[in-house]
Amino acid sequence: MDWGMKNRMSRIIQKDGHTVMLAVDHGYFMGPTTGLEDLGKMVKPLLPYADVLMPTRGGLRNYIPPDIDIPVCLRVSGGTSILNETNLLHEGITVDIEDAIRLNVAAIAFSILVGQPFERDTLLGMTEYIDEANRYGIPVLAVTAVGKGLGKDARYLSLASRMAAELGASIVKTYYCKDFEKVVETCPVPIVIAGGKKVPEKDALQMAYDAIQAGAIGVDMGRNIFQSTNPVAMIQSVNSIVHKKYKPKEAYMLFKSKK
Ligand code: R5P
Repeated sequence: MDWGMKNRMSRIIQKDGHTVMLAVDHGYFMGPTTGLEDLGKMVKPLLPYADVLMPTRGGLRNYIPPDIDIPVCLRVSGGTSILNETNLLHEGITVDIEDAIRLNVAAIAFSILVGQPFERDTLLGMTEYIDEANRYGIPVLAVTAVGKGLGKDARYLSLASRMAAELGASIVKTYYCKDFEKVVETCPVPIVIAGGKKVPEKDALQMAYDAIQAGAIGVDMGRNIFQSTNPVAMIQSVNSIVHKKYKPKEAYMLFKSKK
């Protein structure tokens, strides 16, 4: 690993080996999703509690001031919308590496979908991007998903996560599931979990805790933060689990105390 890659990785993964990534890239396939109608206004008070921001290039350019001091993990895959259910996540490259460099990114995020007829397109799209990004010392975070019907099952999520790592991803993002330690143990690169659809705060905090206990290095969470009744309190509570070893109960008490 060269210096640039190491430097970028150290900006993403903090000295304690953990990270809180704030995912706000949803607009690339969901449009103005609830909570991100004014992305800039939502994100600003959350930044002090996030280690990394994960936006799209349009989200970054239009809503985030360039003088912020936070590493950016830029989403560079897309091409389908939430209205196109059969092809959802049949993604290709949406941002050229040159533009990613221009935006001074610390990492890039690329989605793969394993277990669909079009899986090959997403896997080859990601490897193409990994080759480009590696040339400039930029790590790639693989956002892994599995085909409809396969569910959030350790068998399939470990398959997708291991594949992503074997294909060259530096970090893997996947969903938390039962027996999550099996997903972590068989993946040679660090794993962060996605939050998924909004659930009660107590449950989201429990999930974050369980994922860390199982060996995840952190979270890359979106809706469970920005759709919370109190997004600032929620990200503070998530941060306390990831970085301060808070138990779920303590983190939930912190959340409630901030209300
Ligand atoms: C989805 O593909 C996007 O990358 C989201 O940013 C990701 O799923 C994390 O957000 P959430 O916690 O809302 O699932």
